[in-house]
Amino acid sequence: MTAGASRSRFREDETRRDSDHVSFLRHKRFRWAWAALALSLAAAAGYALIDQDPRPNGGSWYGYTLGTIGLGLILWLSLLGVRKRRINPGAWSLKAWTSAHVYLGLSLVVVGTLHTGFQIGWNVHSLAYVLMLLVIATGVYGVVAYTTLPARLSDNRREMTRAQMLDALTAIDRQLDGAAQPLARGEADLVLAALRQSPFAGGALARLTGRYPACQTARALAGMDTASEAQQRVRALLEKRAAQLAQIRGALRIQAALEVWLFLHITLTIALIAALSAHVISVFYYW
Ligand code: HEM
Repeated sequence: MTAGASRSRFREDETRRDSDHVSFLRHKRFRWAWAALALSLAAAAGYALIDQDPRPNGGSWYGYTLGTIGLGLILWLSLLGVRKRRINPGAWSLKAWTSAHVYLGLSLVVVGTLHTGFQIGWNVHSLAYVLMLLVIATGVYGVVAYTTLPARLSDNRREMTRAQMLDALTAIDRQLDGAAQPLARGEADLVLAALRQSPFAGGALARLTGRYPACQTARALAGMDTASEAQQRVRALLEKRAAQLAQIRGALRIQAALEVWLFLHITLTIALIAALSAHVISVFYYW
């Protein structure tokens, strides 16, 4: 991706993400939390009250009931990806969908576990169960990230929008360009390399870890003497540039963390649907 394209995507993402700062957890006074709790309690009460020896497992009539509810829920939860990308809002807001998704998703821990009848082994049925738990675990991590990262993001920005951060960098670069003119060739080249390097250079690993070993601004700072007035001025500007880059990279790091968790959540969901299909097919095949 070119530096220009990266810059404009960075600005666009901000517009999209800013509308995400909503509390889907509290939506309609925790309506979906209550619904999920009711479902979990009903499933647990049914399991406890059924007088059956041995205790109900996936193959009992109660197991089939819970399995059908669980499968229906998982397929519906997977549709959030489709709903997110739909342009017309429909009867339910995205906030309502996400709220229901989170709480009903959590209730699957109870529904799915009771469906297994606590019979876990090395087979495709348990694989589906473990994958479900992993999707739920990544979901919980995502909710924590969604609720804590925006605050960290605004701390990092110090009231600046992404566009302002990039504009501040451009202003520093303009001053650096002028200030570097009196420098000797070697030092001028160091500054030039720093100015030419895209603030987004470094790849995925650098974004996630916040470490940029090939950073030309850091290299220029290391190689800049402070003997003359021109060198001192350039050094001060390079320090300003490094601080501005650190702020931009901090925002990128938070954004990358959100992207990675969503990638994991989606990939595990795909694996879960594949394992579930194998589980359902094998159950009916051996019926
Ligand atoms: C087996 C259960 C689950 C399945 C199959 C599932 C599946 C999905 C899918 C397909 C998406 C859409 C991702 C996209 O395309 O952008 C999604 C998003 C999400 N899920 Fe889940 N999920 C499950 C459980 C959970 C749980 C238990 C939580 C939280 C406790 C959770 C939290 C989230 C969040 C926060 C999003 C992102 C919403 C957004 O970006 O606006 N998920 N999930």
